[in-house]
Amino acid sequence: MSKQNLKPPRGTRDLYPEDQRFREWLFGHFREVAARFAFEEVDAPIVERASLFMRKAGEEIVDQLYHFELHGRHLALRPEMTPSIARMVMARAGGLRMPLRWFTVTQNWRYERMTRGRKREHYQWNMDIYGEPSVTAEAELIAAVTTLVDRVGLERDHVKIRVNSRSLLEASLRAGVLRDRPEVFEPLCVVIDKIEKIGADKVTDMLVDPAGAVQLDAASARDVVAMLEVKNLEDAVAAAPADSSAGSDLLRLWSLLSAYGIEDRVVFDASVVRGLAYYTGIVFEAFDTRGALRSICGGGRYDRLTETLGGPSIPAAGFGFGDVVIAELLADMNKLPELQHPVDDVVFAFDEAQRAAAIDVATRLRGAGHRVELVLGTPKLKRVITDADRDGVDTLWLVGPDEVERGVVKQRRLATGEESELPLDSFAVEPRG
Ligand code: HAM
Repeated sequence: MSKQNLKPPRGTRDLYPEDQRFREWLFGHFREVAARFAFEEVDAPIVERASLFMRKAGEEIVDQLYHFELHGRHLALRPEMTPSIARMVMARAGGLRMPLRWFTVTQNWRYERMTRGRKREHYQWNMDIYGEPSVTAEAELIAAVTTLVDRVGLERDHVKIRVNSRSLLEASLRAGVLRDRPEVFEPLCVVIDKIEKIGADKVTDMLVDPAGAVQLDAASARDVVAMLEVKNLEDAVAAAPADSSAGSDLLRLWSLLSAYGIEDRVVFDASVVRGLAYYTGIVFEAFDTRGALRSICGGGRYDRLTETLGGPSIPAAGFGFGDVVIAELLADMNKLPELQHPVDDVVFAFDEAQRAAAIDVATRLRGAGHRVELVLGTPKLKRVITDADRDGVDTLWLVGPDEVERGVVKQRRLATGEESELPLDSFAVEPRG
């Protein structure tokens, strides 16, 4: 028989207990921050109708879809959560209390070209607000991101959030180079999102490419690229067309962020437009200040998505925060938590004759909320003690022939070595958990 390749598919991960402990730790922080901002958790199927994710603006995410035909249906593994959330909101529009605040922690699939920080499956924490048109929503979302960064132990200057306004760019372009072709704004954003990855020259080439989706003349393309160089809020606001609220929205956002005490954690950057077509307003991305990693999270306002999907118009804003880059950043900064296999008690029967008594001890401890390892088989006591020490176990319960005969169990506190004997059928158990 030929030898099977038993590796997981490229870009996917097996999670061993230590990986899973880290993941649970991180997801615990995602969920705790979401709870502190009064967001409620929702979920949706990982397999959706492929059409939910098919958009025509040339986004990478559409080309990277894992999709397949099954029994005549065209299905896809979700590459992101946002269309599913929009679908869920639309299905109950009218019956939901707005503004609504929902969060998810889900696995997403994208057939990416693999680089550091990008896998073919990743988990994302999403927080989304529907029904709030003002930038108070974006401010709350950005505050949640900084809360998470603090909670996981990173320092304030390890991560910054770059903020821009797509509506500012759109207003300027509609008044200028896109006056007669407003419909190319979305494909144009998808192209200029690549500027950091491929550089200004290649982006200019793509904008003028006669076979591309945008097809600007060379001078207009250079003007667009020059607009992306603005790194200063005042200059951006001053350049905003008078009939657009984009400038005042940005100023209001900054004043809200200062009320949260996080103004120093955001920077204006006109080159952040995001690679997804549906954003319409403020957009933001968190990045590590050394510039070594891909974006940590990204999001923004997407007021037209529900309409694009054939539903009512509902203003919306949100972000997705992946599990991969944050883990790399924590590792680079030496901030990965030390997480032990959490066991409170180990119960050890010296031999099978004491097994029933040991089961009884373990069952009572478990009933009181303790995490209990009942030693299986009858290894040497020395080995049991070494393993328990390594796992940071609190208490070892020794159930030997002599103890059972006298109706007692021996309790040893591993931190101090202190030992005591307790009545086997009536020892008191401290409740935990
Ligand atoms: P996104 O920028 O495509 O946005 O992804 C958000 C975050 O997910 C990224 O910043 C990154 O942390 C993580 N991520 C994305 N792709 C990968 C990958 N291949 N490997 C590892 N991590 C990845 C969205 O998905 C939007 N739906 C976010 C959103 C929610 N906007 C509004 N609400």
